[in-house]
Amino acid sequence: MTEILVTGGAGYLGSVATTLLLDAGHRVRVLDDLSTGHLDAVDERAQFVEGSLEDPTALDEAVSGVQSVIHFAGKSLVAESVAQPELYHRVNVGGTTQLLEAMARHGVTRCVFSSSAATYGEPVELPLRETSPTQPTSPYGESKLRVDALLSDAATRGLAAVSLRYFNVAGALETARGWLGERHHPETHLVPNVLEASENHPLTLFGTDWNTPDGTCVRDYVHVVDLIDAHVRALDVLENGRHHIVNLGSGRGYSNREVIATSESVLGRPVPVVESPRRPGDPAVLVASIERAEHLLGWRPERDLRRMIDDAYAARLAR
Ligand SMILES: NC(=O)c1ccc[n+]([C@@H]2O[C@H](COP(=O)([O-])OP(=O)(O)OC[C@H]3O[C@@H](n4cnc5c(N)ncnc54)[C@H](O)[C@@H]3O)[C@@H](O)[C@H]2O)c1
Repeated sequence: MTEILVTGGAGYLGSVATTLLLDAGHRVRVLDDLSTGHLDAVDERAQFVEGSLEDPTALDEAVSGVQSVIHFAGKSLVAESVAQPELYHRVNVGGTTQLLEAMARHGVTRCVFSSSAATYGEPVELPLRETSPTQPTSPYGESKLRVDALLSDAATRGLAAVSLRYFNVAGALETARGWLGERHHPETHLVPNVLEASENHPLTLFGTDWNTPDGTCVRDYVHVVDLIDAHVRALDVLENGRHHIVNLGSGRGYSNREVIATSESVLGRPVPVVESPRRPGDPAVLVASIERAEHLLGWRPERDLRRMIDDAYAARLAR
């Protein structure tokens, strides 16, 4: 039986990964400082180390004896990164540097990392391929690109690494203990915000004059359970001295209006919306090419947008 360290295991994606890895028979250790995560999201079968990526003692405790690391921990709000770029550099780049140093101290050579489509910035081709130019438009995207470069560098010294560049993640996992879903504060993701919208707090729809079929932005959504399945597959392709970069999305785009319409069908009522101007820095369309994920990981997402919204709504009702 292998033991896996999940950093950020109290967060949205890390908590789902922890439970699915335990269900698959792995032992799991979680390192999280609970800065944006929730202790009650951590599966009680996991060993929990409360501490920061920036604390070498906590890192030693978390890393010692594991075979692999899945690294979700970090800061992930684009607007916050514009306001506080040093924070994003310190936690995402500095914290990962410290994690890699701890792994080296303990002879751990296998790492799967949460990268992001934000590394690409404004797309110069669609769908976005892993070979597409990377010109991040935020300190958040820049920090993820820097970590991808750190991993490539560490691979030249023997690390086995995979960077998974997520597009938009949505949905939730039903467990024996209840639902694990998104609980970000503030919540910047469209699906939970659509489900949360009310007459008093309508959804702000940024931009209705984009050059897209219905004028709203188009994004690529993937269900959290499909996303974590790709991580389990990534563990199997880790190879010392190699760093693979792999997009994770569904390979198709949904417009903001399509997400709203599907949510209205799930909710059985209209979603109150306020149309507002475009948000600076938002590309019109972001869609992933998932050919590399198909070839390297043998992976294809199975759950569609309706399923993502159904599950996100069930998780919200269960709160
Ligand atoms: N959710 C998405 O749609 C999405 C898309 C692209 C990339 N990502 C990346 O995936 C990862 C997980 O995203 P999420 O949505 O689960 O976020 P999240 O905020 O729910 O989870 C992040 C977790 O990391 C922990 N953490 C933060 N800083 C830490 C530190 N210094 N030391 C230890 N723990 C720390 C937080 O407490 C939290 O539990 C992030 O790296 C994010 O950038 C997420």
